[in-house]
Amino acid sequence: MGKKRKDIPHKVRIFDSVSGLADSAAETISNEVIKAIADNRSCYIALSGGNTPRVVYERLAEEPYATKTGWENVHLFWGDERCVPPGHPDSNFKMVSDALLGRISIPGENVHRIMGENRPDKEADRYIGEIENAFGVAKGHIPRFDLVLLGLGNDGHTASLFPGSPSLDEKEKICTTSVHPESGRKRVTLTLVLINAAARVLFLVTGKEKSGIVQEILNRENGYLSYPAAKVKPVDGSLEWFLDRNAAGDKELEKNKE
Ligand code: 6PG
Repeated sequence: MGKKRKDIPHKVRIFDSVSGLADSAAETISNEVIKAIADNRSCYIALSGGNTPRVVYERLAEEPYATKTGWENVHLFWGDERCVPPGHPDSNFKMVSDALLGRISIPGENVHRIMGENRPDKEADRYIGEIENAFGVAKGHIPRFDLVLLGLGNDGHTASLFPGSPSLDEKEKICTTSVHPESGRKRVTLTLVLINAAARVLFLVTGKEKSGIVQEILNRENGYLSYPAAKVKPVDGSLEWFLDRNAAGDKELEKNKE
């Protein structure tokens, strides 16, 4: 058995409005790209599905971010995808495409979508290869994303890592399949192996219905570790939660704040 990892501190940022959160998250993401460009390298970002991330993508498509971000140096990936074709209303690719891609100048070859129309297990393996190629790493090497954006589901899931799913126990593969517990539909998802190797992970969460879970996870209460989102602990990176006041709830979220 591996050594028990110490809990890492997380930063919590609470915003009065969804719009304030979107501004700050867009600024953070844009600055991460600008920093990579200053270091003469590409910026690798994994995107999330979900309503809150969508608002952030819409903000990134506006000025000043559309122009100042230097999108041609960005490689975009998806944290998870529903197994549907890219034009389907449930497709996370379509969501990002509508909110952002159609409105910025990014080379097509830098947009690395999960092909939801393919057979899920084959696609998970294909996507591993696509990630390794884009990062220029050897097969089996775990790449380090500059930024991983995540949402939080009402059941504590993140990406398509659902409570109790075997995908949570994956120790080697950076991408795998999972099943959405309510619809029974297949998903393709990045695993904790890859997410926890990232340099920086941002959770983007809004809405009152998330406040109970947010509090349990951030204050490490009750059986918080049964929530997949609580298992996101970058080994050598930072973890930040961007919350609106509704998602933050009424109780103190002091513990483990940096
Ligand atoms: C997905 C996601 C998922 C999402 C959360 C939050 O495709 O379902 O990537 O992890 O981010 O379910 O979604 P909402 O913000 O819509 O509640």
